[in-house]
Amino acid sequence: MSQSRVNGLEVLIEEVEIRQRVAQMARRIEADYRGREPHFVGVLKGAAIFHADLVRELTLPLTMDFLSVSSYGAAMASVGPLTLDKDLEDDIEGKHVILVEDIVDSGRTAAFLFRWLPERKPASLRLCALLSKPSRRQFPARPDYVGFDVPDRFVVGYGLDYNQMYRNLPYIAALRESSAAHLEHAATFEP
Ligand code: IMP
Ligand code: MG
Repeated sequence: MSQSRVNGLEVLIEEVEIRQRVAQMARRIEADYRGREPHFVGVLKGAAIFHADLVRELTLPLTMDFLSVSSYGAAMASVGPLTLDKDLEDDIEGKHVILVEDIVDSGRTAAFLFRWLPERKPASLRLCALLSKPSRRQFPARPDYVGFDVPDRFVVGYGLDYNQMYRNLPYIAALRESSAAHLEHAATFEP
């Protein structure tokens, strides 16, 4: 059952489409990691919902961990340095790490993590993102698994927020132009 629609939001991806796509992604990951025990690292907070659904779709033995990064004092995702707010709890040396992101937008977060995580010597490292906005890419980030490409609009739901709201919506929606107009100046693009 879908939650009722929220004013000011335009649904782009329905709950049932997300569920089907997450299952497809899980089948591909199972095929690629057969015989191995991947370690799923979710990037908080945005990836929490996707991460939880994805790992429950997988029949592989696996482990999981979380980290959190933020852009310090920056309004938009593509400016200012990124800092690690919450480090991993587990050692990743020798592990087959799959980084789970809600969305790859400018690519800055993913590019930052792909420079830093290899220093901890994982056996392999791949990126799995529910959403990608290819038209916004400014940093070298190529997700190995992508759920959906989305247009250059600010999207919420299924973990993604606008001012920390809407993460619990079971679908992906875009803010309507009227609600999005002030976003240019808002500090909402932080990971
Ligand atoms: P990137 O570093 O520019 O690729 O994007 C990093 C983070 O910005 C993502 O992990 C999200 O948390 C956030 N973000 C980017 N675009 C959106 C959006 O449309 N809605 C909500 N959050 C977004
Ligand atoms: Mg965010």
